[in-house]
Amino acid sequence: MTNFSEKVVLVTGAARGIGLSLATHFSKLGAAVALADLSADDLATATAGIRADDPSARCMAVEVDVADRASVEAMVAAVIDTYGRIDVLVSNAGVWKNLTRGPFWQLSNAEWSNTFKVNTEGAFNCASAVAPHMIARKSGHIVFIGSAAIGEALAHIPHYTASKSALTGLMRCAAKELGKDGINVNMVNPGQVDTGAFSREQMESRALTKFIHRVGQPRDLEGIVTLLASDEGSFITAQQIYVDGGGVLN
Ligand SMILES: NC(=O)c1ccc[n+]([C@@H]2O[C@H](COP(=O)([O-])OP(=O)(O)OC[C@H]3O[C@@H](n4cnc5c(N)ncnc54)[C@H](O)[C@@H]3O)[C@@H](O)[C@H]2O)c1
Repeated sequence: MTNFSEKVVLVTGAARGIGLSLATHFSKLGAAVALADLSADDLATATAGIRADDPSARCMAVEVDVADRASVEAMVAAVIDTYGRIDVLVSNAGVWKNLTRGPFWQLSNAEWSNTFKVNTEGAFNCASAVAPHMIARKSGHIVFIGSAAIGEALAHIPHYTASKSALTGLMRCAAKELGKDGINVNMVNPGQVDTGAFSREQMESRALTKFIHRVGQPRDLEGIVTLLASDEGSFITAQQIYVDGGGVLN
């Protein structure tokens, strides 16, 4: 299996939830990890947690707004300045918890475009900023965190579903364009994962609609993201993989 102690992994939206879980996981595998997010305070707590578990962990915090191209370029420059390169981008930052819910015709244009600005353009910004460095090194792995919502047509959150559906197109085009440079690009679509947005009762009742009757946890994403970010998974590209306990076929 790939020796991640030689790898540099950049995770966006890493101050909490799925992003923090993945960053912590790659750190445990020995990678140098850059945790990028909006808030310096939240990032300080996140990196302190990783170092508390392992004082020898190599991790850095980078403040970024993925929706802002200049901020993303500065994030990538800071990681390369510190660790010399980026082997893996996990483009995870996204908005969903505080989005206005409602039928599509009642959503404002601002709600629609703000969602796309982070979830879609943010991922575009991050992939675009790391691509030239990966191309120069003729290797790299890009993993977009999408959502199983794109296969379920969830009601009352069309702006979110559309913003993540658009990532499929970006992912496939990026995979085609970067393949000749030894870079694989894929998308992982979580189903409902417990990151604090829903009550235990809500999560458990939703879990009963899946093939596998348990609540998804951030750690459920570790295996597939690790594979896609590894040498062993480097021939897998342009794929979207659902990690949702089977819900998307219901
Ligand atoms: N948890 C779920 O059930 C679930 C299901 C499907 C998909 N997802 C996707 O997984 C990803 C992580 O979800 P989560 O539940 O951990 O969310 P979360 O809200 O707990 O964490 C998201 C992180 O992204 C950061 N972020 C938001 N906007 C940002 C921006 N403009 N720039 C930089 N960072 C930004 C937030 O500050 C936060 O730390 C998201 O893309 C989400 O859409 C989550």
